[in-house]
Amino acid sequence: MSRPARIVVSRPLPPDVLARLGEHGSVEVLDVGDDERPTALRRRLAEAEALVCCVTERVDERLLEAAPALRVVANVAVGYDNIDVEAARRRGVTVTNTPDVLSETTAEFALALILATLRRVCEADRFVRSGRWQEWDPQLLVGHDLGGATVGIVGLGRIGGCLARRLRHGFGCRILYWGRRRCDWAERELDARRAEREELLSESRVVSLHLPLDDETRHWIGERELAAMRPDAVLINTARGGVVDEEALVQALRSERIWGAGLDVFANEPTVHDGLLEHPRVVLAPHIGSASERTRRRMAELAADNVIAVLTGQVPPTPVAGRQGDDRCASV
Ligand code: DGY
Repeated sequence: MSRPARIVVSRPLPPDVLARLGEHGSVEVLDVGDDERPTALRRRLAEAEALVCCVTERVDERLLEAAPALRVVANVAVGYDNIDVEAARRRGVTVTNTPDVLSETTAEFALALILATLRRVCEADRFVRSGRWQEWDPQLLVGHDLGGATVGIVGLGRIGGCLARRLRHGFGCRILYWGRRRCDWAERELDARRAEREELLSESRVVSLHLPLDDETRHWIGERELAAMRPDAVLINTARGGVVDEEALVQALRSERIWGAGLDVFANEPTVHDGLLEHPRVVLAPHIGSASERTRRRMAELAADNVIAVLTGQVPPTPVAGRQGDDRCASV
């Protein structure tokens, strides 16, 4: 009789999701500290058929080489820049992700960062806690309105689309978007207008990034792009840190070429550039865009569905190969 499939899970998932996986193989949850993680993962994958992992795990050629029995890598994330999809494909390993289930939650978090940055919510919180609040003052912590503002959405895919709807219907914003493809639904329903990069940057009070990270999008926002932005603009990033040249962003903030930033993702997580940590009008979050209870559960369930499908010879619900960007108008 063949042994049960081995399923390695890189971070704890809800117990009932682990139990469901357990009906299809023996499940091993990696329970080591961050320093030991890459070595432990490599060792545990030696005989594993399935890996459920997160953005923190680098699934590269070397790791795949150490996992000859692997059939599926199920990323508990929509972005999969942590996985060498091409190397996996060459080895016949299916890669899956968790699109759609997190779009609204992540869009809501982008909206939270937009409002927190424009209205200086974190500065206000620090101000009150530090005991510096003496009296009401008409000049105190004056920010900017979102209502009616022009918002530039870079990558009008699933998440960007959810954000655009909220901005248009909830705040009456004018929507500009940049994308590789035209997005008819958004032009029709939201009166959104496709713009060239320069135009979007120079007209938008808020620029929100929703691009997957790849060779073409790395440093999509650099010195030149920041120079093209309005001095009262804020940059919002809930996509991937590498889409922004952080050094250039710090310089732009210091020299007041832009007004502020709301960032959930960073180039070298969990390390954050000192220049961002120090700047009062930068709102920082530890990569929690999709972190609501309901959504994190759905992500785990979808990852498990993907693993079970592959192990039982079915087509997984959300494989990534050949699918990146083919939703309504692309991107994340
Ligand atoms: C994603 O889904 O890509 C997030 O960044 C991780 O939750």
